[in-house]
Amino acid sequence: MVYSGSLDLYSSRDLTPIIGREFDGLQVAYLLHAVNSDQMIRDLAVTISERGVVFLRAQAVLPAQMRALCEKLTFLAGCPESSGLHVHPLTEEGSELGDQISVISSEKQKKGGGLTHQLSDTSRFASVAWHADITFEPVPSDYAMLKIHTLPDTGGDTLWASGYEIYDRLSPAMAVFLEGLTATHDAKFFNDEAARLGNPLRTGTRGSPLNHGVSLEARHPVIRTNPVTGWKSVFVNKGFTRRINGVTKDESDLLLKHLFDLVTQNHDAQVRFKWSKNDLAIWDNRSNWHCATFDYDAVRAGDRVCSLGEAPYLDLSSKSRRTALQERE
Ligand SMILES: [Fe+2]
Repeated sequence: MVYSGSLDLYSSRDLTPIIGREFDGLQVAYLLHAVNSDQMIRDLAVTISERGVVFLRAQAVLPAQMRALCEKLTFLAGCPESSGLHVHPLTEEGSELGDQISVISSEKQKKGGGLTHQLSDTSRFASVAWHADITFEPVPSDYAMLKIHTLPDTGGDTLWASGYEIYDRLSPAMAVFLEGLTATHDAKFFNDEAARLGNPLRTGTRGSPLNHGVSLEARHPVIRTNPVTGWKSVFVNKGFTRRINGVTKDESDLLLKHLFDLVTQNHDAQVRFKWSKNDLAIWDNRSNWHCATFDYDAVRAGDRVCSLGEAPYLDLSSKSRRTALQERE
């Protein structure tokens, strides 16, 4: 997809050369009602997919408007007709804000929720929580957005890292090798969490007819093409990817460790965002990872919406980000 220029009216800055762009004065409420709303939201989708994550400060936006924006974003970016907004397997039936809004909160985290499994004997490296959203679903997320409305005076930053850039850091030989492989992702720990919290897991359709049941397991290509940019990205993550298939367990462990290290140890492929009240982040889960920071005691809470894209695929003729950008010049 090609950016048409409709967001050029707003000043913006790239937060790092690789990932992240922040806009000034762009309100979601305006995007939804502008005369050229579709054009602007399509341009926003292209910008998010190219820059990985976009930040819109101080949004006067209700959860229902976030839901509406997410629906338009995924539709205008060309998601399959069968893909809607995700219903998280841990979302309680009859949840206050509706099935498609996940409430992100430090209170839930204290009960052991989320990827850090604070109640279990797990790694104390903060980087254990790097992930892309819901990759355990056969049809995972294209876009996700999070608005933080309650936050501590300091702390609670979120980090994002670019999967395009990590692909570009592989040798050509390693890239070709990984392009022939798939990996298994799973979130079986959500079953334990649901049991402990006393909330039944959502086993019906979770935003796509292909996402249902209790297995919370999927197989995806290790290298994936983003259909909006046409760029290749590494698509395994610390949170949910357990096994690279078609190699021995030892080889899988070695490869996954190397790929996860590339994500967590390359701070020049990351952006770290300091939230202010009602800031909104929107990111592309197909080609980026993110990681929360649990360095605060005060209450922190927000609303998340997550749309579903296509079943992940690799187009062998697609290009790396650096190659594509060089060709543009
Ligand atoms: Fe997440």
